[in-house]
Amino acid sequence: MTAIENERQFQQSDANLLMDIMTNRRDVRGNRFIDKPINDKELNQILDAAINAPSVGFSQPWEFVLIRDTKIKQQIKDSFDQENTNASKLFIDDRQTTYNLLKLEGIFEAPLNIAVFYNDDQQPVLGKTSMPETGLYSVVCAIQNMWLMARALNIGMGWVSIINPEEVKSILKAEENKKLVGYLCLGYTKGFLKQPELELLHWEKRKASKDIIFNDTY
Ligand SMILES: Cc1cc2nc3c(=O)[nH]c(=O)nc-3n(C[C@H](O)[C@H](O)[C@H](O)COP(=O)(O)O)c2cc1C
Repeated sequence: MTAIENERQFQQSDANLLMDIMTNRRDVRGNRFIDKPINDKELNQILDAAINAPSVGFSQPWEFVLIRDTKIKQQIKDSFDQENTNASKLFIDDRQTTYNLLKLEGIFEAPLNIAVFYNDDQQPVLGKTSMPETGLYSVVCAIQNMWLMARALNIGMGWVSIINPEEVKSILKAEENKKLVGYLCLGYTKGFLKQPELELLHWEKRKASKDIIFNDTY
C-alpha cells in the first residue's frame, strides 16, 4: 500500500446501513414537513455530501442557491401552480382526479429550498466530449448524495420539477450559461413514509428486477 492509497475497508454491516438509508429515503412533500429551521451543521453536512459526488472530468459543475426568502418562494410557487395546472390536463378521467389530489411540492412548508444549477462554462471537459449530457448527470449525482445524507440526518428532501426552469432562472438571477437541474425542498419531518407515496396511492408500482435487468444483451 502506498501513502496515497485508501486502506479503509468497510464491513457488511456498513453496506447494510447504506442500503437501509437508501431504502428508507423518501421524496418528502409539503404534507410532511414541520416548521423548524435546519441547523447549519446539518446543512453543511448535506452540502458537503453534494460536493463529494463524482463528476465528469472532476469538473464539479454544480452550484447551489439556498432560498429562505418568502417573496422568492412565492414566485417559485406561482411557477409551480401554473405548470401544475397545465400538467393536470395531460391526465384523463380518474387519473386526473387523483393527480389533482396530490401534493407535489413543499416550497413554503420546507424551511429551506435549494435550487441546484449546472454551470456550463463551455470549456472542453475530459470525459464530456462524446456525451455532453454527462455534465448534467454529474449534478444529479450531487443531488442524490444530498438526498441520502439528508435522510441519514432524518431530514426530509423533496425534488420539485413541475416548474418553468427559465422562470426560475430569472427569479434567481441566474446567468445565461446556468441550467436548473433540481429544485429541492428540505426540512425536518413528522416522519417518513415506508413506501413511495405514489406507490401507496396506487399511482405507480415498483418494477420487478427481472423486467429491467438483462444479461449481455436485451
Ligand atoms: C428527477 C426527479 C424529479 C421529481 N419531481 C418531483 C416533483 O415535481 N414533485 C414531486 O412530488 N415529486 C417529484 N419527484 C419525486 C418522485 O415522485 C419520487 O422520487 C418517486 O415517486 C419515488 O418515491 P420516493 O422518492 O419516496 O422513493 C421527483 C424525483 C426525481 C428523481
